[in-house]
Amino acid sequence: MAENTNVTLEKIVSLCKRKGFVFPSAEIYSGLNGVYDFGPMGTLLKQNIKKLWLQYTNSWPEEVVLVDGSILGAEAVWKASGHVENFSDPMVDCLNCKKRFRSDELNLEKGCPSCGIKNWTDVRQFKLMFETQLGAMAGNSSIAYLRPETAQSIFINFKNVLSTSRVKIPFGIAQIGKAFRNEITPKQFLFRVREFEQMELEFFCKPEDTDKYFDEWVQRRKDFYVTLGLNQDKIRLRDHEKDELAHYSKACKDVEYNFPFGWKELEGIANRVDYDLSQHIKHSGKDLAVYDQETKESYIPNVVECSVGVDRLFLTLLFDAYHEDEVEGETRVSLRFNPKVAPVTCAILPLSKKLSEPAEKIYLDLKKAGYSVQYDLSGSIGKRYRRQDEIGTPACFTFDFDSLEDNKVTVRDRDTLKQERISIDKIKEYLENLLK
Ligand code: GAP
Repeated sequence: MAENTNVTLEKIVSLCKRKGFVFPSAEIYSGLNGVYDFGPMGTLLKQNIKKLWLQYTNSWPEEVVLVDGSILGAEAVWKASGHVENFSDPMVDCLNCKKRFRSDELNLEKGCPSCGIKNWTDVRQFKLMFETQLGAMAGNSSIAYLRPETAQSIFINFKNVLSTSRVKIPFGIAQIGKAFRNEITPKQFLFRVREFEQMELEFFCKPEDTDKYFDEWVQRRKDFYVTLGLNQDKIRLRDHEKDELAHYSKACKDVEYNFPFGWKELEGIANRVDYDLSQHIKHSGKDLAVYDQETKESYIPNVVECSVGVDRLFLTLLFDAYHEDEVEGETRVSLRFNPKVAPVTCAILPLSKKLSEPAEKIYLDLKKAGYSVQYDLSGSIGKRYRRQDEIGTPACFTFDFDSLEDNKVTVRDRDTLKQERISIDKIKEYLENLLK
């Protein structure tokens, strides 16, 4: 069985469209640049990503609680956070072909990557936040922003959470939700988009414990990707250089993944010190300090932040899982997802229409028990296997004429292609073992 993993961005984009993972948004109206919709398979995959992130984030001794903040943010919040002033990317235009670029991704000594001519405008700062007006009366008092990170909803609710949730420092507040950035050049499919979801943990600790927790969370976050089954040789940690640091962070480490377009950031772990809480104290005039019962003194907690995009991790999982091998002289495409990640856990495939009644009974029973399961009766069994391989289903159960006699089905493994007979009443046990 010859095998290759020569995955390209084009292959992933095509598979995502073909199998219902991702569609360009507003496709019937020619699309919206840097914005995507998720189809049935993509939605299931996203749900699994978020569920696994939450489980993992909450699997440590320290308490982690959740919030779900608003997407529209008051101007005052984003002024205090420093985003109104600092959240921008440097931009240049090519005066010849009128294309626009991020200048930090170009060598301005060279010609335009699009037309080859060297005729640049000056570098200008381009604001990345989407600004909008609340209500009917336009004016400065009604300016709001679509949040460019979920983190600020956590900081502005810090005192509310502390006073209502019986949590004590050190503890974390986590959030999964939409964020928006008016990227100058959305690119590489889901890698850099204008509307995306973030999974963020803001971990509050005493200032003297920050370095310890920073190191701890860096290790935990790297390990998370191992638990998801990502190829360890394709994951590494990288320290931010001083000139790369965001305006709020003192130190930052990226978990990087080796994409076909190079090593790129998957997740950022930042030491935000007390920047955000201090800024909100200064701008709101509210006391967000914490009283320490032992020292009898108040202090402003420090923050270790772990932040990853759902969409970026989605893309990473697709690249990592993509496999091509040759089966019976034909190229087979499969997504070798960890079963916990796979959108569909198993498929029930009756060998003949005449067997649909008992096979459907198994399918409905698994569906009722909460498994993500598909039922497929159409086409040859080989074709049906390929369909499941392409969406990454780890197990296919075939119901044949012998099943009527021995109450067994044939289970076929997506990766090894091995087949074995198991009792119908052992199917759930088989699936539980897969999902362990
Ligand atoms: N609160 C910190 C923060 O937002 P960031 O490095 O700007 O930090 C964190 O973003 C993560 O969000 C990134 O590591 C990436 O996974 C994801 N992300 C950021 N911008 C994105 C975009 N335009 N498209 C997709 N994902 C993005």
